[in-house]
Amino acid sequence: MDLFEYQARDLFEAHGVPVLAGIVAQTADEAQAAAQKLGGVTVVKAQVKVGGRGKAGGVKVAKTADEARSHAEQILGMDIKGHEVKRVMITEGADIAEEYYFSVLLDRANRNYLAMCSVEGGMEIEQLAVERPEALARIAVDPAVGIDAAKAAEIVDTAGFAADVRGAVIETIQTLWTVFTEEDATLVEVNPLVKTGDGKILALDGKVSLDENAGFRHPGHEALEDKAAADPLEAKAKAADLNYVKLDGQVGIIGNGAGLVMSTLDVVAYAGEKHGDVKPANFLDIGGGASAEVMAAGLDVILNDPQVKSVFVNVFGGITACDAVANGIVKALQILGDEATKPLVVRLDGNKVDEGRKILDAAAHPMITQAATMDEGADKAAELAAK
Ligand SMILES: Nc1ncnc2c1ncn2[C@@H]1O[C@H](COP(=O)(O)OP(=O)(O)O)[C@@H](O)[C@H]1O
Ligand SMILES: [Mg+2]
Repeated sequence: MDLFEYQARDLFEAHGVPVLAGIVAQTADEAQAAAQKLGGVTVVKAQVKVGGRGKAGGVKVAKTADEARSHAEQILGMDIKGHEVKRVMITEGADIAEEYYFSVLLDRANRNYLAMCSVEGGMEIEQLAVERPEALARIAVDPAVGIDAAKAAEIVDTAGFAADVRGAVIETIQTLWTVFTEEDATLVEVNPLVKTGDGKILALDGKVSLDENAGFRHPGHEALEDKAAADPLEAKAKAADLNYVKLDGQVGIIGNGAGLVMSTLDVVAYAGEKHGDVKPANFLDIGGGASAEVMAAGLDVILNDPQVKSVFVNVFGGITACDAVANGIVKALQILGDEATKPLVVRLDGNKVDEGRKILDAAAHPMITQAATMDEGADKAAELAAK
């Protein structure tokens, strides 16, 4: 889960990272009041989960509260790379002497953490990384050790910080590491980390991604979710604990096991080419124990997707055998009753496949068609969706 800058700022503050005061505003009036409260020079910052706000005109300095108001008027409602600005954060204006860059992230490819740091931070960091990669220090961080004082010093010295800020940056980086571990983040990025005119170090912009798999350890994280931005079907699936991702197609997909579901998407997309280019409508993995309740919850989400024209249930019976899955499908359709109005193609294979198929035959539900193979099922579902 990616956080807004103001949420990252709050987390930083809670862990003792030096930040400036910030107030979130949803209207120009609120922005003006916030600037009044902060006093002096303020900065009006678009709150969208995308980088490059400064270059897009979403970060503006205001000398007075009236100016903050007119900046907010302009920034609220703006579209930044496809993200509508619904809130701004009013912060104190910093007297920036130098801009640095620091990030620490989960490096999946190397099964490790990676810290990146540069004394040339700011809005051109992407360009710097491409044109002069040597100016961006990249230091592997052993998860078992983390960023202790020695590691922080290695990062800071590799990046080439001057002596006057060295100590303060080492300390700040260690605090940012505390944010990273204690909040179970997969990314903590500060750009810019600045030195002010009076020599202080401040985190002026923060980007944080939290690991949702660790959510159970952080009851406070749920409140950080941007529920308004979530796809309603995805939100419904999440509430039912389903692994569901909405896609832009017509064939609803239900399978057990992420690998099988991924290949089902491929096979349906391939078969769909012959039927007017229909495509899979979603990813949905109902997991190992495909109970009737889970099947019903999954079908409920998929059948409520107005784009869906047919559904392909592709299950390979393992520990949960095909007879249990077939009973699950039949019961799910009973639970859904009149809502089950779209054709269902079911392919069962694996443990107790014959028993499973017999149960579906006996149920003789008008919406169910059985398929013997995955390819046949995909073709049938695509054909039904194209009708
Ligand atoms: N509180 C602030 N005071 C002064 N300048 C700021 C402040 N916040 C941001 N800036 C300036 O605006 C630039 C862009 O802001 P930033 O928050 O990094 O947004 P983004 O990374 O999305 O462009 C920064 O590099 C910095 O120069
Ligand atoms: Mg930035």
